[in-house]
Amino acid sequence: MQQGQPMIVMSEDSQRVKDKDAQDYNISAARAVAEAVQSTLGPKGMDKMLVDSMGSVTITNDGVTILKEMDIDNPTAEMIIEVAETQEDEAGDGTTTAVAIAGELLKNAEDLLEQDIHPTAIIKGFHLASEQAREEIDDIATDIDTSDEELLRKTAETSMTGKGTEVNKEHLAQLIVEAIRQVTVEDENGDNVVDLEFLNIETQTGRSAGESDLLEGGIVDKDPVHDNMPRSADDADILLLDEAIEVEETDVDTEVSVTDPDQLQKFLDREEKQLREKVDTIADLGADVVFCQKGIDDLAQHYLAKEGILAVRRAKKSDLEFLQEVVGASIVSDLESATEEDLGFGDVTRDEEDELFYVEGEDAHGVTLLLRGSTDHVVDELERGVNDALDVVAQTVSDGRVLAGGGAIEVELAGRLRDYADSVSGREQLAVEAFADSLELVPRVLAGNAGLDSIDTLVDLRAAHDDGDITAGLNVFSGDVEDTFEAGVVEPAHAKEQAVTSAAEAANLVLKIDDIISAGDLSTDKGDDEEGGPGGAPGGMGGMGGGMGGMM
Ligand SMILES: Nc1ncnc2c1ncn2[C@@H]1O[C@H](COP(=O)(O)OP(=O)(O)OP(=O)(O)O)[C@@H](O)[C@H]1O
Ligand SMILES: [Mg+2]
Repeated sequence: MQQGQPMIVMSEDSQRVKDKDAQDYNISAARAVAEAVQSTLGPKGMDKMLVDSMGSVTITNDGVTILKEMDIDNPTAEMIIEVAETQEDEAGDGTTTAVAIAGELLKNAEDLLEQDIHPTAIIKGFHLASEQAREEIDDIATDIDTSDEELLRKTAETSMTGKGTEVNKEHLAQLIVEAIRQVTVEDENGDNVVDLEFLNIETQTGRSAGESDLLEGGIVDKDPVHDNMPRSADDADILLLDEAIEVEETDVDTEVSVTDPDQLQKFLDREEKQLREKVDTIADLGADVVFCQKGIDDLAQHYLAKEGILAVRRAKKSDLEFLQEVVGASIVSDLESATEEDLGFGDVTRDEEDELFYVEGEDAHGVTLLLRGSTDHVVDELERGVNDALDVVAQTVSDGRVLAGGGAIEVELAGRLRDYADSVSGREQLAVEAFADSLELVPRVLAGNAGLDSIDTLVDLRAAHDDGDITAGLNVFSGDVEDTFEAGVVEPAHAKEQAVTSAAEAANLVLKIDDIISAGDLSTDKGDDEEGGPGGAPGGMGGMGGGMGGMM
């Protein structure tokens, strides 16, 4: 190997940012993401309107939805978005909180870096603090009786607030708790196991959210294929079919040349026969109702109607899968090999107003939450809010630990972490303290979003906690510091543990990086007139922040 000559291993187009510049670049990218969602936190948080490249609009308050819909093209920003995604997968709620805390951790880390504290000390301190925080959360959390429906309703309401459910949240919370109760079973150890597979959510535009309902069984939002078919069927044998009731097409392109009318007739007869046979097979199986995922030929529709069979075509795959559980059927993908065993059993009734079928099984294994709202945008946001609340109630039922919300848990944790910091030696101590400060972002933002003074609120909250009021939080509706647990602002402990852990891990991941080597241009907003070189990289992020600023 040659000596004394630097070896060039990177291509000309690649860009490299090192040390302090790399940290600056990453931290500002991460913070831009966190700041983009902060204004949505809490019941008084605002919504965002996102327009994708096809022009379709999403209006939402949901952190993870905002971040997923935003067209972000920056590697660091994507790491922070992963925090939201993990939070969504693990806890279903708290995505805004997790991302906001991650951003604040990095902001505070930046100050420590300015003071020449080495990143590894900060990383160690953050790690210690997050471990300690988990222990403290477990200590602070209240164990509840998981059959306490009133408390479960409160957790549902807390998680739904701010997500377009305001007026009807009591009714919805009731439905959500009932839905979860229906799909909860006890395992051999006596623990609650919630199986959300048995819970289906359907949305309907037209009426108000207050008319949402919980139904035993499933829904098929389709019309019968033929007017002369029965509209409903009690005690019906139900076939779920994943095969078209149409003439089978050959795999190869064929051309049929017909030389005389007889031949044509024969050809048509053959097609007719094929359809007739398919319908006969269905009738012989004893099916009264067919939910078909594929198409049904006009002629076959006619035959089915003559047989008195209710048939629906192009049913949604997810609906059929859910109906399998409800009526105890298996989806048939080859009619010829189908047996009676594959059929399910239940009642199919028609709701003429909503133009859909209700399908109820013998001993229904599944329930459907039918959400209604006046317009598509309303229903979509309602669905996101309800989904969060379902996860929250499911977690509370299986985990049984809850916390006081409205910033109460964050302020209590911060206080305890500051005490803990005294026991940590070296520079890590400063990082633990910075971690504590970062958690207090939550009450500050909750207050700010509600138009209250965030400093005053934080001072009041700290004072209350110093006096031993563990559950003192901010009630954003009254603006007062009060016992939020009593006031019904209750959150599952698991979600908070997850938020704190993933925020800390993401921050540490970002802090560990001292060198960014990119195959292409690092800046995101190429149209912007920004300075080049490493210094230009954070500028690129500025472009992103600016872009989002315009959106808010
Ligand atoms: N009535 C209330 N008063 C004060 N704070 C409340 C109230 N209801 C809910 N909160 C607080 O609002 C926060 C949750 O807000 P929000 O649902 O907007 O964000 P998130 O759960 O972190 O993220 P997302 O729901 O977008 O996934 C929690 O800290 C919760 O304690
Ligand atoms: Mg929430």
